[in-house]
Amino acid sequence: MSSFTPENRDRAREIVARYPFARSAVLPLLHLAQEQDGWVSPEAIEEVAALVDQEPAQVLGTCSFYTMYKRDGRKELVVSVCTNVSCLVNGGPELYELLSERYSEAGDVMVEEVECLAACDTAPVFQVNYEFHGNATGESATTTIEEYRSGARVPRGVSGGKRA
Ligand code: FES
Repeated sequence: MSSFTPENRDRAREIVARYPFARSAVLPLLHLAQEQDGWVSPEAIEEVAALVDQEPAQVLGTCSFYTMYKRDGRKELVVSVCTNVSCLVNGGPELYELLSERYSEAGDVMVEEVECLAACDTAPVFQVNYEFHGNATGESATTTIEEYRSGARVPRGVSGGKRA
């Protein structure tokens, strides 16, 4: 079963070709799958395994080790709020608490706390489906998230307002 789009399959082959050992491409291939779909599906695990000549269980083992890879595609939006040092002193934990509470009942939004997103100069930082938003306040973050929910912004992994 195919997971990557034809364009991304070409990108995947290019990624594999960069490494002396195909298995070294597992992490960037998982990133590519998540960039495409917003999560890493079982089909993507199988396709990545085939591309790097490993068993799907080996790729799943790698994927499940890293919290940055999402293996649950039920939520339309994944909101990742950084609470590491720069964000910690600039309101990241308060932002996380506010958004967690605000969207605790939302069926389409998952709010998670994450480590440094390497955008510390714009702390506090959050992502929506891995797209960066910096210098956030509770109000600006809520406005941004609501723009995704209303369709004014199209998040990664979504085609025509529905998960591809
Ligand atoms: S500490 Fe939040 S982006 Fe680095």
